Amino acid sequence: MAAPFDMDFGTPAQPGADTVSLEIDGIKVSVPAGTSVMRASAIAGVKVPKLCATDSLEPFGSCRLCLVEIDGRKGTPASCTTPVEPGMKVATQTDRLARLRRGVMELYISDHPLDCLTCPANGDCELQDMAGAVGLREVRYGFEGENHLKAEKDESNPYFTFDASKCIVCSRCVRACEEQQGTFALTIDGRGFASHVSAGMNESFMQSECVSCGACVKACPTATLMEKSVIQMGQPERQVQTTCAYCGVGCSFIAELQGDKVVRMTPHKDGKANHGHSCVKGRFAWGYATHKDRITKPMIRASIQDPWREVSWDEAISHTASEFRRIQNKYGKNAIGGITSSRCTNEETFLVQKMIRAAFGNNNVDTCARVCHSPTGYGLKTTFGTSAGTQNFDSVQDADLMLVIGANPTDAHPVFASQMKRRLREGAKLIVIDPRRIDLVRTPHVEAEHHLQLRPGTNVAVINAIGHVIASEGLIDAAFTAERCDAIEFARWHAFILRPENAPEAVADITGVPAEEIRSAARLYASAKNAAIYYGLGVTEHSQGTTMVMGMANLAMATGNLGRPGVGVNPLRGQNNVQGACDMGSFPHEYSGYRHVSDGAARALFEAAWGVPLNSEPGLRIPNMFDAALDGSYMGIYVQGEDIVQSDPNTHHVTAALSAMECVVVQDLFLCETANYAHVFLPGASFLEKDGTFTNAERRINRVRRATRPLAGMADWEVTMALSNALGYPMHYAHPSEIMDEIARLTPTFTGVSYDLLDRVGSVQWPCNAAAPEGTPVMHIGGFARGKGRFMITEYVPTDERSGPRFPLLLTTGRILSQYNVGAQSRRTENVRWHPEDVLEIHPFDAENRGIRNGDKVAVMSRTGETVLSAMISERMQPGVVYTTFHHPESAANVITTDYSDWATNCPEYKVTAVEVRPSNAWSQWQTEAETFRKRAHRIAPAAE
Ligand code: SF4
Ligand code: SF4
Ligand code: SF4
Ligand code: FES
Repeated sequence: MAAPFDMDFGTPAQPGADTVSLEIDGIKVSVPAGTSVMRASAIAGVKVPKLCATDSLEPFGSCRLCLVEIDGRKGTPASCTTPVEPGMKVATQTDRLARLRRGVMELYISDHPLDCLTCPANGDCELQDMAGAVGLREVRYGFEGENHLKAEKDESNPYFTFDASKCIVCSRCVRACEEQQGTFALTIDGRGFASHVSAGMNESFMQSECVSCGACVKACPTATLMEKSVIQMGQPERQVQTTCAYCGVGCSFIAELQGDKVVRMTPHKDGKANHGHSCVKGRFAWGYATHKDRITKPMIRASIQDPWREVSWDEAISHTASEFRRIQNKYGKNAIGGITSSRCTNEETFLVQKMIRAAFGNNNVDTCARVCHSPTGYGLKTTFGTSAGTQNFDSVQDADLMLVIGANPTDAHPVFASQMKRRLREGAKLIVIDPRRIDLVRTPHVEAEHHLQLRPGTNVAVINAIGHVIASEGLIDAAFTAERCDAIEFARWHAFILRPENAPEAVADITGVPAEEIRSAARLYASAKNAAIYYGLGVTEHSQGTTMVMGMANLAMATGNLGRPGVGVNPLRGQNNVQGACDMGSFPHEYSGYRHVSDGAARALFEAAWGVPLNSEPGLRIPNMFDAALDGSYMGIYVQGEDIVQSDPNTHHVTAALSAMECVVVQDLFLCETANYAHVFLPGASFLEKDGTFTNAERRINRVRRATRPLAGMADWEVTMALSNALGYPMHYAHPSEIMDEIARLTPTFTGVSYDLLDRVGSVQWPCNAAAPEGTPVMHIGGFARGKGRFMITEYVPTDERSGPRFPLLLTTGRILSQYNVGAQSRRTENVRWHPEDVLEIHPFDAENRGIRNGDKVAVMSRTGETVLSAMISERMQPGVVYTTFHHPESAANVITTDYSDWATNCPEYKVTAVEVRPSNAWSQWQTEAETFRKRAHRIAPAAE
């Protein structure tokens, strides 16, 4: 297929401003110094045949197809490995070259099946193209001798096959796995004729270290590594550029389709967050979009004990509107509210909060970001003045030291992890602060200098101790703090951090980290030329989540690690649009752009634009909504794309609150756990069916483009608009671009954003306005958004959740590569092959003490509940700490998490729950009852005649 997004220049672009001029086939061209002759030729519009080169990988020079002649040079050098020189005169098409290239191709084809017409790569095969390009007309060598034509296929991976008979041993796959992915799962084994690609130690792909990122498949120029979807469906015939809907990396993809059916998702090499790379989720786990569990008709029911009844969109919308108005008439204006979703687009989220503020008439809107990164917003706004990370992802290439805290990038942000690993292989240093030994601590060619394996809940004690070393050993960047930070706040912090209780020796017992280890890590961080902090939910989901964010900001300011590439404080945001959901005014106290509802000027702006008076009192946060429901004062909720029953802590409390409400409206793709408590189900649209934008963890606004029609007939923004109209507050948008135009008019950091701009430049990072018309990759250059940086006092206060004789272990939770969040999407794909159930990781010492063997069923009990999982004995854990994921509703990890939350934002303390673990042979009572309830709740009444 002609691929408009896929021009391959053969070798990577070279940075640098110096240019070199040369002549290729008589065409004059100027290119950056260091560019290969092959790339220069492509820039000049001259195609040089190639097989082993591709512009996503460093040149290798093995196939000898790209030979050229250069004036004044002997022989025929390979253009992919020859750098340009000033005044060079290159010939790419001569009789000699044609003869040599035909000879090379003849050898390849003589050991290659001649089944082009029935080959799945027919029309998308570089070997086929090259045979045509060099004019190969005959092959003089027969197939009688030794060959690889009967080599075995490896079909173990659910998403791609490896057909060794078609391999030309160009090693593009091996290099992709090393250079792009950093997994080193592939090698070329054997020599000469016997050389072949091998996964792991001659294992199948599934048994090997392969993480199924698909980089090798994309790099393969033949049908050897091939997507099974293409083998089954044939070549795609149209392309739509869009953005992955899984994690906060925000990878750009080309959806390749036949009509309305997706054939393949290919990472877009011009994607500024991913540069052509992907992980198993975005690349392959998109089949959920057409899974048989999708609900595509609106449904209502009077009671959650009743079966669902399918209804028309009109009936569903008018029923919802009348229920919401009935509840408000009976219980008051504030008796309803809604939750926006970090899975939905900016436009959809903006519209939901607008409907709540303007049509519901209150500020009872909150977002699932409450339960993940709300401390990031609060902490960074307080210290720097902006509720967002400071850098772009590419900035990591300038980092000399990475401090990774409470994040597991290889599982949760895999494409950015590959970028980190590349920089680490180049020599940057790494410090990991995490209770668990995450993969990044030791992975091929990468090893952390320090792993501070702290006890869950002691982050603040560790960060203060690092600050103490920096302050007491004269490692503060005094020029930076004097020029850029508030002097009084700095002096207060300086006195605080020097207090003896913050010394590493004083916190060693509390944290479990030896003092000398903290001292060495602190010195390493402070002495690096460029030191960057990357952090995740292991920072925020604590009772001191906000304190820890401020502690990291203090550290970066104290060492001058802000305001240039390679430094900063960078949250690795969880879901695809968690940054956007926050930016769009999803919090009960803030409009879009983080302006407080009590700010008269901001409110007047929105009142004028929306034509209604707005409430100046902040509304309810999610936990307050639950409490109010149980008090009988909050009776209706609109939940868009968020499964609060599975994702929020203390499931008993959540389900009790939902059961107490009179109208729960869920808009989702599937009958999720929350839908089991709903009275109205509004079918949602998958990312493939959406038009809009997502904002990733680096503030990058990426376009999401509709590739297929919404299965339920309506896009999510159209549903919200219809509901608002039915409630009597008119909305009239013809396209999401008009919603973005409104966002831009009302939000200072978005004033320059439009679909036209995004179509032109690909993506932009906010702030994007008159001062930065094409966005802001690095923030706080020359000054902080708030003026002077503000040091905050970050006293360590132990969490109230304590281990003790009844609950002697601490449970912490996290994610795994193949699954995502509540798993609603990833569980409905072949990714379940890697992670069919959530397991409890436990240290061998704790397991032995309890008579637990690997794979045993174990009951995990906390003060709030009990659940049963399989045990996995793992040396990654430290004694006293256990770990699980929360991707499967059956394991119900949140039945055991508590109501403790961050002091500033109510972000739940998922990362610290005191538990006991014992062998078990049956599900817990909760699990048994939930399964029965789930089955009842999924009943759909037969359609009436
Ligand atoms: S899919 Fe990714 S990890 Fe697996 S072998 Fe290919 S490049 Fe390596
Ligand atoms: S599998 Fe593909 S990319 Fe790898 S060596 Fe064979 S032909 Fe080249
Ligand atoms: S899940 Fe994240 S890292 Fe993986 S492809 Fe999607 S955006 Fe990229
Ligand atoms: S493309 Fe240059 S040697 Fe293979």
